[in-house]
Formats: sequence, structure tokens, C-alpha cells
Amino acid sequence: MEDDRDFQAKKITEDLGRPYYQTDLGTAYRATSLRLLKRIPDNSIDLIFTSPPFALTRKKEYGNVSASNYVNWFKPFSKEFKRVLKKEGSLVIDIGSAWNPGTPTKSLYQYKLLIALVNQKFHFCQDFFWYNPAKLPSPAEWVNVRRIRVKDSVNYVWWLSKTDFPKADNRKVLKEYSKSMMDLLENGYKAKLRPSGHDISEKFSKDNSGAIPPNLLQIANTESNSYYLRRCKEEGIKPHPARFPPQFAEFFIKLLTDEGDVILDPFAGSNVTGYVAESLNRLWISIEKIEEYVRGSRFRFEEHKNQAPVEQEKCNDIQNSSLENFLD
Ligand SMILES: C[S@@+](CC[C@H](N)C(=O)[O-])C[C@H]1O[C@@H](n2cnc3c(N)ncnc32)[C@H](O)[C@@H]1O
Repeated sequence: MEDDRDFQAKKITEDLGRPYYQTDLGTAYRATSLRLLKRIPDNSIDLIFTSPPFALTRKKEYGNVSASNYVNWFKPFSKEFKRVLKKEGSLVIDIGSAWNPGTPTKSLYQYKLLIALVNQKFHFCQDFFWYNPAKLPSPAEWVNVRRIRVKDSVNYVWWLSKTDFPKADNRKVLKEYSKSMMDLLENGYKAKLRPSGHDISEKFSKDNSGAIPPNLLQIANTESNSYYLRRCKEEGIKPHPARFPPQFAEFFIKLLTDEGDVILDPFAGSNVTGYVAESLNRLWISIEKIEEYVRGSRFRFEEHKNQAPVEQEKCNDIQNSSLENFLD
């Protein structure tokens, strides 16, 4: 099994040039992703899980594409995503909404992206909403100053695939039952027609070992004292400014993959995806264009006992020589 896994990983990464670092299960590249994506073999990836730069009005330090140009910018990436995904694989995109510059109205860019992806023959499996109760109010002008809009607290998550039936199993992401459901399971439920017209049968009170989660994921993004942040501080590295929480990646990785599967994050930032994949015994590949983020992301794996990082000397070597080949 381990030999198979190593062989599979080698096959996928053999044309990608030298990585920035490697762990037992994953490989991190510092590069712009399009050129590397083009070198990944067809039908080799089980899950692409990523949060691309959003079309924000107030730009992040790593640069953002404008809403009006977003779909065109994304198209070459999605073409490669489709090619590298296995038949039963999934593409999951976390994307924030954007306001139209200068007005209290919103852009439709994330929906336009979804439609473009479906037009590219991706199958739209389900939409998810990540509710982050800790999100700060913005844009301040409309929300805090004029008080004419409310806090925007959800990100959109588009789950797409190459067929109508990608690999997925909601039994791997069950939640603890609520108190009322526990009571129901203990005391039973009398089958009847609800006022809504739903016919609730006896099966309703069957114990499924947990509740099936909804497509609204409530996860507060409040990391303030993690190992990653402490190590970035010690080494004088700026932490990534737009990290998603590990529980968010964990949900989709568990739902859509098995141990030994291969997960790719082409806009990896601080590599939460790789970190979670490793802890769940999945193979991973991450690509991030900004060196400081890749350098910082490596700290996440110091907690993993079997890490075998590429030595610093070799990393410098990559930056000076082969990196240019991989910049879009
Ligand atoms: C929203 S952030 C991802 C954050 C990440 N999910 C995390 O939790 O740390 C998007 C990242 O994509 C990177 N990026 C943008 N364009 C890229 C490209 N063409 N190739 C590789 N990385 C790119 C940016 O530098 C940024 O770090």
C-alpha cells in the first residue's frame, strides 16, 4: 500500500520540477500554478480544494483580479482542473462575494464563475455556505458608517465534478446529535403527517450514529495563537492574511476522499489544505506563488513527526534557477 502510494505520488509530480519542501505525504511548490498544472497528468487528482484570490474591491497584498475580468482569468485554470481530475473527483472552490466599487450593491461575479464552470461541462453537485460569525463588518461605509447594509458573513462554496456521481460519503462528516434528537432516539417517534405535509415515518428515529450536516457550515475563523502563528512570529515571517480554518478543509476532505487519495490546492496560501490532508493520511500537492507564504506554511508540518523537508540550501537553489520556468 505504501509502495503504491509513493509510486502514485512520484508519477504525478515527476514533471513538476523541484519542490520547495516535502513531507511524508505531500509536496509544496512555490510557483504560479498554471504552468505546473499543465504538467500534472490527466485523471490523477481526487480532489481540488482551493480558495482562489477573490475579486475584492479592497485588494489583498497578494493581488486580486477584478470582478469584471474574473471569469476570463479563471478559465485557463478550470480547463486544467477538469483535465487533471479523476472521473470520480471533485472540485471545491471557496469564494467570497464582492461589492461593486463605490456603491452599496453587490457583484455577481461568483455566480458568473459558477455558470461558466457549468458551461465548461462541470456538474454542479451542491452549493455550500461557510458562515463565519467572527467576520468583521465591511464595507465600513455601508455597514458601520451609513448603516444601510448588514454584515456579510458567508463565503460561497461551489462543489463541482466531472460526473453526476463523484465519490462522496456523508457518513464521514456526521455531527453529534442535538439534545432533542437524542431524546427522540431514546423515546421513539410516533409516525404522523406534519403540518407542513411531510410524512415522517418510524424510520425518522433510526440511529445513524450522528446527524447529517447541512450545507451551511458554521466555523469561526478566530485563530490567534496557533503553532503556525507562533512560528511565523519567531522567524519574522508575515502570516498569510486570508487563511481558512482547518475544520473547513477537514469537512470537504473527509466528505470527498479516502485515505491515500490525492488532493491538490493550486492557490495554497499557508497550505492549510496540505496540513489537513496530511493529518488525515491523504497525499497532497500545494502550489503558491509567494515565497514568504510557502516558507511560513512549512512550520505547520514541524508538528508532524516524520517530516523530511528539503534542506534550505536546495530551496534557494530552486528559487534562483528553475523557479522562473514556472512563473506564468
Ligand atoms: C485566498 S488565498 C489562499 C489562502 C489559503 N486557503 C490558506 O488558508 O492559507 C489565495 C492565494 O493564492 C495565491 N495565488 C494567486 N494567484 C496565484 C497563482 N497564479 N498561482 C499560485 N498561487 C496564486 C495568492 O498568493 C494567495 O496566497
